[in-house]
Amino acid sequence: MEQKRDSFSGKLGFVFAAAGSAVGLGNLWRFPYLAAKYGGGIFILVYLILAITLGFTLMITEIAIGRKTGLSTVGAFKKLDKRFGFIGYLGCIVPFIITPYYCVIGGWVIKYLAVFVTGQVKAATSDNYFSDFIARPAEPLIWFIIFAALTAIVVMIGVQKGIEKASTILMPILVVLILGVSVYCITSPGAMEGVKYYLLPDFSAFSATTVLAAMGQLFYSMSLAMGIMITYGSYMKKEDDLRGSVRQIEIFDTAIAFLAGLMIVPSVFAFSGGSEEALNKGPSLMFVTLPKVFESMTFGGFIGATFFILVLFAALTSSISLLETNVSIICDKFGMDRKKSTLIATIYVLVVGGLVSLGFGPLSFIKILGLGLLDFFDFISNSVLMPIVALLTCISIGFFVKPQVIYDEVEYGGRKFKEKKFYTIMLKWVSPICLILILLFAVSEAMGWIKV
Ligand code: PHE
Repeated sequence: MEQKRDSFSGKLGFVFAAAGSAVGLGNLWRFPYLAAKYGGGIFILVYLILAITLGFTLMITEIAIGRKTGLSTVGAFKKLDKRFGFIGYLGCIVPFIITPYYCVIGGWVIKYLAVFVTGQVKAATSDNYFSDFIARPAEPLIWFIIFAALTAIVVMIGVQKGIEKASTILMPILVVLILGVSVYCITSPGAMEGVKYYLLPDFSAFSATTVLAAMGQLFYSMSLAMGIMITYGSYMKKEDDLRGSVRQIEIFDTAIAFLAGLMIVPSVFAFSGGSEEALNKGPSLMFVTLPKVFESMTFGGFIGATFFILVLFAALTSSISLLETNVSIICDKFGMDRKKSTLIATIYVLVVGGLVSLGFGPLSFIKILGLGLLDFFDFISNSVLMPIVALLTCISIGFFVKPQVIYDEVEYGGRKFKEKKFYTIMLKWVSPICLILILLFAVSEAMGWIKV
């Protein structure tokens, strides 16, 4: 059964809403810690190259598929070619893996917001503050439940309009604040070395892991290879400029990630000495570093609180689009109404996310492939499933459905597809080959067949 879909009001509305989904913890929390860990400048370089090649190709493809069919993932692939419905199903698994742990981190953001609002910044600057916090059984669980509940409430009430409006106002404020804070950070004593580390590529730090990490991050950050952009594309108006919108979303998403890194990585040098250990903090990096930065500022408590409110908002617009995807999958698949589906999706998120949250404390003995629960879910989605979905998307569209379908969509209304040749080569050859190589590498590494 085909439903009538709402369209976003004009191109800017679509760009902002898609950017609201794309810009989130991936940019603010995940990108900086990966950049710090994988050699700074070299990671940024690899990421940028991937963004303008693979990222561009996939996003154009997904949004075009969505707009062409007017359907979300499973339906969209089926409509293009009956045999490919399974790619849609595979893509659907990803949001189910990401949403629970996304909400756990969202909970950490609320916790830090509370820390700043209640003036406990000083305590939060101590090195063990964060690790002690996540190791407690109940506290992180409570913040996680609050975040998941906030997300669920918005989804329950029905969203698109709300997301669109709120992101239009809050995103620009977030950008200005990050800009301000990063200027402060890079001018702090000792930060220069960090700026160099962040901006100048050190080619000796390059390895296949850098590419794997950057690629997983690209999918995650741009909400690619999981059907979300297909769904967003299905809401896009026919007369809007698809190619231009993709460019804008990409630039916006990358710029925010880049700035977030510029704020956090040099601070690691200025406030924690830039040792290997300090750079290798992984998921905790933002929470360990930023309190030190804000504590050193005049009005830091206020600025920090404002910052975490905006991060919370960015995280919510993303988690909403994640949960929304889960809900619509349950709705479509089991023919349930929206309320029931939201309830089921939320219960699922609470159970799995609860385990992830406890995985840092009472359940920390659980290790899969040598990884803790959060890192395991993160690995399975970003380094395994998403490359597979991306690969299948490229091959199915490139060789079976044929790229003409995408050209028609991009060129609709007499628009130009300037990168058509480049796009085609990327879609049919370069992307699939790179994706296969990187997948082989990811699996070998996880299985311990190779050591890096
Ligand atoms: N792209 C979002 C981020 O960067 C995360 C996300 C992934 C959101 C998938 C929706 C869907 O945080």
